[in-house]
Amino acid sequence: MRTNMFNRRKWRQATMYAVGSVKVKLLLSCCIVFALLAFTTRTPSFVGWKNRSDALYKSSLPKKGYALLINTWKRNDLLKKSISHYASCPGLQSIHIVWSEPDPPSDSIIKYLNHVVQLHSKDGREIELKFDINKEDSLNNRFKEIKDLKTDVVFSIDDDIIFPCASVELAFSVWQSANDAMVGFVPRVHWVDESKGDQGNFVYGGWWSVWWTGTYSMVLSKAALFHKKYLSLYTYEMPASIREYVTKNRNCEDIAMSFLVANATGAPPIWVKGKIFEIGSTGISSLGGHSEKRTECVNRFVAEFGKMPLVSTTVKAVDSRNIWFW
Ligand SMILES: *[C@@H]1O[C@H](CO)[C@@H](O)[C@H](O)[C@H]1NC(C)=O
Repeated sequence: MRTNMFNRRKWRQATMYAVGSVKVKLLLSCCIVFALLAFTTRTPSFVGWKNRSDALYKSSLPKKGYALLINTWKRNDLLKKSISHYASCPGLQSIHIVWSEPDPPSDSIIKYLNHVVQLHSKDGREIELKFDINKEDSLNNRFKEIKDLKTDVVFSIDDDIIFPCASVELAFSVWQSANDAMVGFVPRVHWVDESKGDQGNFVYGGWWSVWWTGTYSMVLSKAALFHKKYLSLYTYEMPASIREYVTKNRNCEDIAMSFLVANATGAPPIWVKGKIFEIGSTGISSLGGHSEKRTECVNRFVAEFGKMPLVSTTVKAVDSRNIWFW
């Protein structure tokens, strides 16, 4: 009896294995046939499908696009590169340059940028270019309210990183599904420091923490889309002590914005997959002591808000056309 059962089980395993290997072989041959089709024949209908999916996607993009809100400081060459790139993106409606240098922009850079913008203003699209000139040099300048903004959403960006238009359009379409959320490319995380008791002490985690845990609770405003209403909330509604802290420490305006949006929505931000090209070489994040300063900011803002508003998540948005296996 026992041997009988044993044999039967063995037999079943053998057949399962056989069926499995047939499936694997079938799948492999399908892959090979498909690859051959794709690479050798390049039939028009195969190429046609790609074009069709692009056309389908483009036709669904709304007329009303996004505004570029770019923060720059004494790096005219980077500014030129960035603007030249983003002006070519189809959804871009206007460009707002946050200028906080002591000297106003030179005639030559104004001329250059106007030329670039004109070059891409065709097919009925007119890109607006504006400098927002500030007397005081404060990181809060980047979140000033923009008067007469025609779009609902701004794409806030630093002058030293570039994202391909396809990545920006993806983030824009994610934002359209979640108008209140902050949608961005650079995630960061916070957690409770358990060695310091169970409340009140939070730690700021950089990219490696996000990578290790797959969890994030902020997206940085150096590369994020958000509704323009948050600009006026930041400038007029948020406690002035937070803006003063940002000005004094020359840091953490992005964390403050993440707190503000999380407090308003009670929801996490959305991380979108995008290709990043860094065109500048130095940034404050490469200086020492950066993460301690950021941790200080988080704890300070928790005290100001009277709670920890940030919400963690593990969700990431990707372009499904680039994913083959579901
Ligand atoms: C947080 O949100 C609440 C409820 O919307 C609001 O009353 C409060 O002023 C916000 N706090 C800050 C610091 O913005």
